[in-house]
Amino acid sequence: MPTLLNMTKTENHYPFLMACRRLPTEYTPIWLMRQAGRYMREYRTLRKKYSFLEMCKNPEIAAQVTLQPIERFKLDAAIIFSDILIPLEPMGVEFEFAKGEGPVFHHPVREMKDIEKLRVIEPEEEVPFLVKAIRMVRKELEGKIPLIGFSGAPFTLASYIIEGSHSRNYILTKGLMYRNRPAWDALMNKISDVLIRYLNAQIRAGAQAAQLFDSWVGCLSPADYEEYVLPYSKRVIDGVDKSVPLIHFATSNSTLLELMKRAGGDVIGVDWRVDIGEAWARLGDEVAIQGNLDPVILIGSVDLIKKEVKRILDCVGGRPGHIFNLGHGILPNTPVENVAALVEAVHEYSSKSSH
Ligand code: CP3
Repeated sequence: MPTLLNMTKTENHYPFLMACRRLPTEYTPIWLMRQAGRYMREYRTLRKKYSFLEMCKNPEIAAQVTLQPIERFKLDAAIIFSDILIPLEPMGVEFEFAKGEGPVFHHPVREMKDIEKLRVIEPEEEVPFLVKAIRMVRKELEGKIPLIGFSGAPFTLASYIIEGSHSRNYILTKGLMYRNRPAWDALMNKISDVLIRYLNAQIRAGAQAAQLFDSWVGCLSPADYEEYVLPYSKRVIDGVDKSVPLIHFATSNSTLLELMKRAGGDVIGVDWRVDIGEAWARLGDEVAIQGNLDPVILIGSVDLIKKEVKRILDCVGGRPGHIFNLGHGILPNTPVENVAALVEAVHEYSSKSSH
């Protein structure tokens, strides 16, 4: 049983961190994946002057962008502004964000000889901007809300560097997995080593929780997840400093919930394709749960948003350990006033229902 005694003095004031530990809170905490981004005018104004990667690599700007949604909405956690692809460049995999295309890798990694060349990074030296941005944001947020650090999970990062861009069927990724097991294992081992260092460096810098994004792992069968992915996600989670809670997130993961729990995490993230009450019944009481509003609902009316908030909170039924979030990142054309209405509706409805 989690108790307040396991937590540091500051942690037990924050509903988000308490919910990660499955402790009762006065209201359901909420934050939103990709809460800093293009749907906000403040972000678009800065983005006119800098490329996305320039923004990630400049600690002052990354800190400023992290705080933009916090200044505007009553969110219960901040997430450091960065990207899951950031550790790849120092590993030796170069990429760019091509206009309208997302990330593009000019030299995808597909053979053992490419994998052998990948470097295991020293985050404090090779991504100093991220460490610095975390320290700056922590100073600003002290006593207000906690800060989340993050990384991609081994499968999702492997899929980008093997495919060379976003993929539909993950044929090259699965091809390596099925046809060249030694190369797959070598690649997943190397990525896992990097991620353990990368997340621990963020925690040393001041991140108070960590989220592992396995955004694309839902393309796998449960059997393949168990065989080719679970051992590596588990290795990363086992290697991350346990003094902060870890959120293990994926999309299209309703068939993988039990296996994701086995890989680890204090909180399991779910998208909107699964009923949150059913997901929790399957996961059991030993984990907290994050989710699960469809991001497209935010394009709808405030009435629809309120209805969905009520539906999700009713499914949860006041169980401690729920962190409200979207099932995936917020969409660029989301109206800001709808985000404000969502945050308010979650706080208001959850503080009325019995906790
Ligand atoms: O949540 C936050 O507010 C923190 C910032 C954050 C970004 N990306 C900023 C971003 C986080 C946590 C991510 C994670 C991320 N990045 C994931 C996992 C989450 C998910 O959505 O599944 C993935 C797959 C990526 C890789 C990535 N980054 C892609 C495929 C793209 C292009 C698609 C797009 O939305 O444009 C990005 C770019 C990106 N990452 C932007 C932002 C704000 C848009 C950049 C711009 O201004 O053009």
